Amino acid sequence: MSDTLIVNAVLVNEGRQFEGDLRIRNGRIDTIGSGLGASAGETVVDAAGALLLPGMIDDQVHFREPGLEYKADIASESAAAVAGGLTSFMDMPNTSPPTLDAAALADKYRRAQGRSRANFGFYLGASNDNLDAVAALDPRTAPGVKVFMGASTGNMLVDDEQVLDGIFARAPTPIITHCEDTPTIDARMAEFRQRYGDDIPASAHPDIRSREACIKSTQLALSLARRHGARLHVLHISTADELALFEAGPLVRADGSRKRITAETCIHFLRFDRGDYARLGHRIKCNPAIKEPQDREALVRALAADVIDVLATDHAPHTLEEKQRPYTQAPSGLPLVQFALPAALELVHEGKLTVAQVVQKFAHAPAQLFDVAERGFLREGHHADLVLVRAQAQQVEQGQLLGKCGWSPFEGQTFHHRIAATWVNGQQVWDGSRLLGEAVGQPLEFDR
Ligand code: DOR
Repeated sequence: MSDTLIVNAVLVNEGRQFEGDLRIRNGRIDTIGSGLGASAGETVVDAAGALLLPGMIDDQVHFREPGLEYKADIASESAAAVAGGLTSFMDMPNTSPPTLDAAALADKYRRAQGRSRANFGFYLGASNDNLDAVAALDPRTAPGVKVFMGASTGNMLVDDEQVLDGIFARAPTPIITHCEDTPTIDARMAEFRQRYGDDIPASAHPDIRSREACIKSTQLALSLARRHGARLHVLHISTADELALFEAGPLVRADGSRKRITAETCIHFLRFDRGDYARLGHRIKCNPAIKEPQDREALVRALAADVIDVLATDHAPHTLEEKQRPYTQAPSGLPLVQFALPAALELVHEGKLTVAQVVQKFAHAPAQLFDVAERGFLREGHHADLVLVRAQAQQVEQGQLLGKCGWSPFEGQTFHHRIAATWVNGQQVWDGSRLLGEAVGQPLEFDR
């Protein structure tokens, strides 16, 4: 493995931004300093003032393997991820078959080895009848247990109250929830179907998948977590109303203790709102739904104010053909990994977040929240998962897309930052326009 010295970078880490150099040796961050001199045989990269960040860790993706490979697979989506500066991902269990026991989980880790360009973790899914598998999960083999407390893609709804109670009492890892109350959604859906038949306008999605459905379900998850003292991470918060339910403050407090109840939002809730359905239709149909401009603004502020702890993608590819079907048959979800970091950095360009805050929410926080060993920070001794970002405008074009479904909700948009290089485990895997080398992703280790 060739060692690398990155010089003249602006490093962003743990709230600080400073000029410096970084040496990679044997796959690890060896030295962070300034004025470092190259050793014989070392590859030298002149960053020329670009930002050097820890690679992003995406705690919510749907890479569709096994069973739905016509939409996406681990090889294609991890390629898109590293091109976007995301060096680790945590994948959801709503595959076919769903990931409901230790054997299905082990199968996913086997599939990823040697095929994933990014580091990987896989969630165990909960169902109405696998409580014993949830309780028996080895916490070092999965970032967490995913509970669909609202029905979405795949049939994984957990709505048996006793089972839900059992999950919150017995899960040995963080519990990760999709919160949308299905009866509330079903009632709204019936009203809209009566009015429109199958051809409901895409813009009705936030009225059907309503804010009330989100609030009700999130409140239930929080009350279960408080009753049992469970670690709960509520995924993809989409409304301003839910924010009041969470504690404001850093994920790791000054005394070293960590929040037990945390919240995530996703990049599409920060870049789109109700006004975008007219242009993008089902391309931005997702669950929970993209809501009002006021929600979008409140979510950005909540990230800055440490009410929301984690930024993720919920990368959920579907084919364009599927997206063109009438509302009731068009699946929910959008592909995001390749441009999520440039999209997040638009918030920096707009003066709403700092680069350090993006790094906190998209790299440090997921590492801390899921006890990921030796990743997520620029620290000597950590694995060298790095991304070099240049402040240079680029337009998103279809021809650049590496995800299998071949489209992006960002096509045609101009971003003001581009991913100039990515390293995974010390190997350069992206040079700004091409993938490099082999699939060197490793399983994430959970230090618990
Ligand atoms: O929009 C969504 N798509 N939300 C989910 O909860 C699932 C995801 C998918 O798998 O397509």
